[in-house]
Amino acid sequence: MLKGRSLIEPGNFTLEEMDSLFVLAEKIETEERYLRESCKGKLLATLFFEPSTRTRLSFEAAMLRLGGSCLGFADPGSSSAAKGESLADTVRMAASYADAIVMRNPKEGAALLASRYSPVPVINAGDGGHHHPTQTLTDLLTIRRLRGEIKDFTIGFCGDLKFGRTVHSLAKALARHENIKMIFISPKELVIPDYIKHHLKSHNIEFTETRSFEEAMPTLDVLYMTRVQKERFFNEEDYIRLKDTFVLNKERMLYSKGTLIILHPLPRVNEISVEVDRDPRAAYFKQAKYGMYVRMALLASLLGVENA
Ligand code: CP
Repeated sequence: MLKGRSLIEPGNFTLEEMDSLFVLAEKIETEERYLRESCKGKLLATLFFEPSTRTRLSFEAAMLRLGGSCLGFADPGSSSAAKGESLADTVRMAASYADAIVMRNPKEGAALLASRYSPVPVINAGDGGHHHPTQTLTDLLTIRRLRGEIKDFTIGFCGDLKFGRTVHSLAKALARHENIKMIFISPKELVIPDYIKHHLKSHNIEFTETRSFEEAMPTLDVLYMTRVQKERFFNEEDYIRLKDTFVLNKERMLYSKGTLIILHPLPRVNEISVEVDRDPRAAYFKQAKYGMYVRMALLASLLGVENA
């Protein structure tokens, strides 16, 4: 039962609980009116202290499609945080108005702190370079929909693996699945953090690190591209030097399997050329749409209306 729970990182839910969310998301996707009025009278607060398109809008779309309503802010400058209000007080207020809170914040640990002050479920929509669990639900649902199951494949993570919270969350989540191999492709300045590597070792996950796209490509079943994130750099020079290290284009696609699935949490900047969008292996826009269905399943489950 997920009713009343918070989601701060993917490990908060068991594999069985995740599976039940995927089953529900698939039912919502295929049955046009399923659960459409289940959240009538419920309110979702969206507190976004950092920019977002997909996460905020897909949560809002999810709640509206379930018959509920949304309130919140997309710019902390328009909230009393700009006057110095603490996160704890902001969350207490939102919890007194709404039935659940979705929050994105640039500070690692902010969502966990929020959950300690909130009597209603808190969903982490990204906390700095730490976790982004609903992106992970989105990624796992996409893999399940496109491969039929979440096991027995090699995934390459490419780009900013140091600050990329979507990579950290997905790598940890995949460590619980059977026979997954990982290849981390990044410039040396943006390698995967040691704490993720320790986690993978403790789960006996086979992984390698490389600087070569060409070397990794032929072995991959799934390629998870990520953006080099300007907002996480302390100086612009480093960002400019590193931002175009790995660009997926038609030529590089020649090295890949015909069954490859290309994912990207989006937004993209230059790291996938637009010419790749027409390739049937490009699944990133489909992936963003699955995000709405899995967020519908999540909201219905946390609010206890999934059997309505
Ligand atoms: N994938 C993702 O988190 O996108 P947004 O930053 O647009 O929400």
